[in-house]
Amino acid sequence: MIKVITYGTYDLLHYGHIRLLERAKALGDYLIVGITSDDYDKTRGKINNQQSLIERIAAVKATGIADEIIVEEYEGQKIDDIKKYDVDIFTVGSDWKGYFDYLNEYCKVVYLDRTEGVSSTELRAKARELCIGLVGDEEIRILNKYIDEFACVNGVKITGVFSEGGMADDCLKEKISYFPEKYEELLEKSDAIYIISHPQKHYVQIKAALLAGKHVLVESPIALNKAECKELFELAEKEHVVLMEAIKTAYSTAYNRLLLIVKSGKIGKVVSVDATCTSIRDVNVDAAGYRNVWNSICAWGPTAILPVFQILGCNYKKADISSLFLDRENRYDSFTKVDFLYDNAVASVKVARGVKSEGELIVSGTKGYIYVPAPWWKTDYFEARYENPSDNRRFFYQLDGEGIRYMLVSFIKSIQNKKINSEISKEISVSISQIMQDFYNNKTNEIRW
Ligand code: CTP
Repeated sequence: MIKVITYGTYDLLHYGHIRLLERAKALGDYLIVGITSDDYDKTRGKINNQQSLIERIAAVKATGIADEIIVEEYEGQKIDDIKKYDVDIFTVGSDWKGYFDYLNEYCKVVYLDRTEGVSSTELRAKARELCIGLVGDEEIRILNKYIDEFACVNGVKITGVFSEGGMADDCLKEKISYFPEKYEELLEKSDAIYIISHPQKHYVQIKAALLAGKHVLVESPIALNKAECKELFELAEKEHVVLMEAIKTAYSTAYNRLLLIVKSGKIGKVVSVDATCTSIRDVNVDAAGYRNVWNSICAWGPTAILPVFQILGCNYKKADISSLFLDRENRYDSFTKVDFLYDNAVASVKVARGVKSEGELIVSGTKGYIYVPAPWWKTDYFEARYENPSDNRRFFYQLDGEGIRYMLVSFIKSIQNKKINSEISKEISVSISQIMQDFYNNKTNEIRW
């Protein structure tokens, strides 16, 4: 019996796939199809799959062509599989010509002509074709980064950039050609909006977008008080559009795995979560003082608070906020520490744009602790550490684009599937807004020099 093996993602199964499977089968008597897992695809930079592994397996199975389906999970697995299944022929489409010649050492390698004119990439782009408008002011640097990340996501077109303050467009002009003077003009041309303007403007801008029936992805915090945040979520629901809070860390694979390890009790009961995020950056201060500059609590607070709320929940008994102000009137804090008290745990977050510290995350438990080195918010690595160092474990996961592109894919999937696919629950967004409200309502201890 001649055994043939072939591999692929098989997202949105199409005619090209079926033709390939038929010809692969015709090369022998028994066909094994290896379908890439979602994690493996992520490590190969394939982040746009529309269908989950289960759905892709079901689609290949339904063709009735494969005799056996296996999952491809790691680099180098092909050699293992060929040996394990005693494979005679390895085959893939001609788009891979030459790439798998090294397998000749183990079996015969055959490249089959690729079917012209059809691909999963094209099908995904056709299904999406979403027009996104960008809104920003001070944080041009980040907006620039987002423009590059949007380019990695299938079927998304950037319509233009609106800036209330008429920010210097110079660095964006190479990439974007449309800079409307009115926000409404951008809304009209877009299906969805990404907002990174100053948090003081969020409420008005989000509300206008939602009322115009546009989906919104907004850099956290969504609003500076709880009531407004709740109102915006209710409005989004009423208008049947997606409102998602943008905290890129929530989409990092390492961070997500860390949460799962903590939740599955690997470090025992969690007693303390301590997160620090700091950066020292020159800020542009105009005549309005620090009013339009992202302060420490807005720039870093949501990211630092995220693991606290995701691990310990939002029902804390007390949140004690202490800040060092550079411009008290405009609530510009160069450093803030928030101490949370829970029934059975404590947490602390330290955020700063004018003070430097070690940007690490530590989750302490009764059996061990999780240590994420600086900068923990964009890490691809963490450790579970125990009393006996020989029990320690290290975890590595690839992180592309600091998690931003995974977040954009989630946002777009939410829009398409009409089902929120956010890693951040509404309850957490509202609780983050509550902390902002306490800060802006002067419920802070002040550190004075
Ligand atoms: N294939 C083919 N003809 C096509 C598309 C794919 O013969 N028009 C083959 C590929 O060469 C591969 C298998 O089908 O052997 C699975 O390919 P996959 O990468 O899953 O499909 P694509 O449509 O190429 O996906 P993408 O656009 O995401 O790269």
